[in-house]
This record gives sequence, structure tokens and C-alpha cells, in this order.
Amino acid sequence: AKPLVIVTRKLPDPVETRMMELFDVRLNLDDHPFTREELCQAMAEADVLVPTLTDRLDSTVLSHAGPSLRLIANFGVGVDHIDVASAHQRGLTVTNTPDVLTEDTADMAMALILAVPRRLVEGERLAREGNWTGWTPTFMLGHRISGKRLGIVGMGRIGQAVARRARGFGMAIHYHNRRRLHAATESALEATYWESLDQMLARMDVVSVHCPHTPATFHLLSARRLALLRPHAYVVNTARGEVIDENALVRMLSQGELAGAGLDVFEHEPAINPRLLKMDNVVLLPHMGSATVEARVDMGEKVLINIKAFIDGHRPPDRVLPGA
Ligand code: GLV
Ligand code: GLV
Repeated sequence: AKPLVIVTRKLPDPVETRMMELFDVRLNLDDHPFTREELCQAMAEADVLVPTLTDRLDSTVLSHAGPSLRLIANFGVGVDHIDVASAHQRGLTVTNTPDVLTEDTADMAMALILAVPRRLVEGERLAREGNWTGWTPTFMLGHRISGKRLGIVGMGRIGQAVARRARGFGMAIHYHNRRRLHAATESALEATYWESLDQMLARMDVVSVHCPHTPATFHLLSARRLALLRPHAYVVNTARGEVIDENALVRMLSQGELAGAGLDVFEHEPAINPRLLKMDNVVLLPHMGSATVEARVDMGEKVLINIKAFIDGHRPPDRVLPGA
């Protein structure tokens, strides 16, 4: 019999079609978010589970894994919703979908880096609301991007892709990462490494977050660290909301201790702090970093390749190891 693959959310049509050709698939046709019970049920029945970031696979849910479940092939690169260590203890392999969303997510970060200082959304809203009374020398002034210092927190694939873009806009690239880049990569990006995140934050004009959310990066931008930023600095987050202490960020924005923020992710998605909704100097997006047809089809293709490799007895290309 073909392996039973249970997919928790609606995926792009070409991906679902291909899955149906290859496996015995159970799709989520009405795309409702799985309840905890449904997740546990799927764990108990499936040979392969294809979850995504809206599914919380903690150790309790994982404890419902049935005897046939061997692979959790996540649709998405971030795996902070999965207790990977607990999955491994149960002998489950976990895979994700890196690389194929790197450029699109970096585009979204760059879009926010441009949009917030140049007041793009605020201006658009004003024009649309019919409140434009004409050009004047002092109307809607924002701040220049070129020549400013961009501090990248987390210099993986996405962080580096942002660095390449930002250089094209004349920004000076700075970064903090657990590990320093190889000298050749660092010099190709003309990036300055800061071993101390605190020291970097104190000197940046724009800070953009590109590290994964792990126990080590939860509230990495804590109230204390955010307070190191200068009042003219902007914060951009396209990674995970939990990396920033959102309450502290909101407090600082409302007290004028930061110039603005561009946020594609939030601590309690899909909830957005209502105070943010009232601020003109923030751009808020509903987690759209990898939301292109191309990325989502490619992510589905990666899921298929990981499942196929695993079922054929090979090591799937995108295994996620505990603590990675
Ligand atoms: C999207 O946020 C992902 O992790 O793929
Ligand atoms: C994510 O895929 C990263 O490595 O930046």
C-alpha cells in the first residue's frame, strides 16, 4: 500500500496534485486550522505528517504518534512550532524547506527597510483617503536609506540575501551571528561582524532580524537590548515575533524611543497588539515573507522530495536535527 500522508493545510494546487499521484494523501480541503485533537488523530494515523507553522507539535501532541508515523515533513523553514528533540526521541525524522524562500523573504525584509523610513504606507493611505493637498518642500519627509547602517541579527541564508540587497541601496552592512562568516563570504558582502550584539545595536540606524526562533533567541531583542537602540533607529522583523519582546517594542515606539518598525511577524499571531494598529510609523504585514506562488510551490516540491527520499530509504535532503 502507498504510505498515508496527512497534510494539515491547503497547499498550492500543483503540489496537491503531485502528492495525490505519489502517495495516499489526506488533504485539508476546507483549509481549517487543525485542532489539537485533529492533530493528535493525524499523528496516530499517518505514515507521514505534513504540518506547517500554525500547527503546534509539542511533546504531548507528539506522544500521540502512532506506530506507523516515521516522518514529519514540515511545509516551511522555521520549526519552532515543533519540539524537534522530542520528535527525535520518538524516532521521528523531521524535515523542513530551506533555500526556496530565501530570496522572497529577503525581498520582503528589504521592502520593509525601504517602506518604514520612507513612509510608504502612510503616504499611500493619505493619497487613497483623498487627503493630499499638493507637493510642498516639507510634506511627508522621511529619512534617507543610502549611507545608513543596517544591523543584521542572524546572518544565515536570509540575512545574507538581505545584505546583498541592502548594499545595492548604499547601506553599510553590519551583522551579529552565533558564528562569524567565513572571511571570503564576509568580505564579498562587505559586512562588518559584531561579536557583541549589544554593541552593534547601539550603533545601527536599521536593525533587521533574521535568526530562527529557538530557546536561545526567545526575546533576544529584550527590553534591555531594545533600549540600546538610538531613538532614530528602525526595527524590521520578518523572522519570528518571539525573537523580539513585543511589549517592550510597542512601549518604546509609543514613547518615541524608536523611529519606527516594519513587522511581518508577531508574538501572538494572528493577534496584533492593538496599540501597533494606531501607529503611523509602523508597517504591519500578515506574515507574508514567503508568500509568493513560486516560493509556496517550491516549498511543496521540497516537501515531496523529502517524503520521496525518506520512503525510498534514503536520507531526506532537509533533515532538521535537535538543537540545530
Ligand atoms: C515561514 O515563516 C516559514 O518558516 O517557512
Ligand atoms: C533560513 O533559511 C536562513 O538560514 O536564513
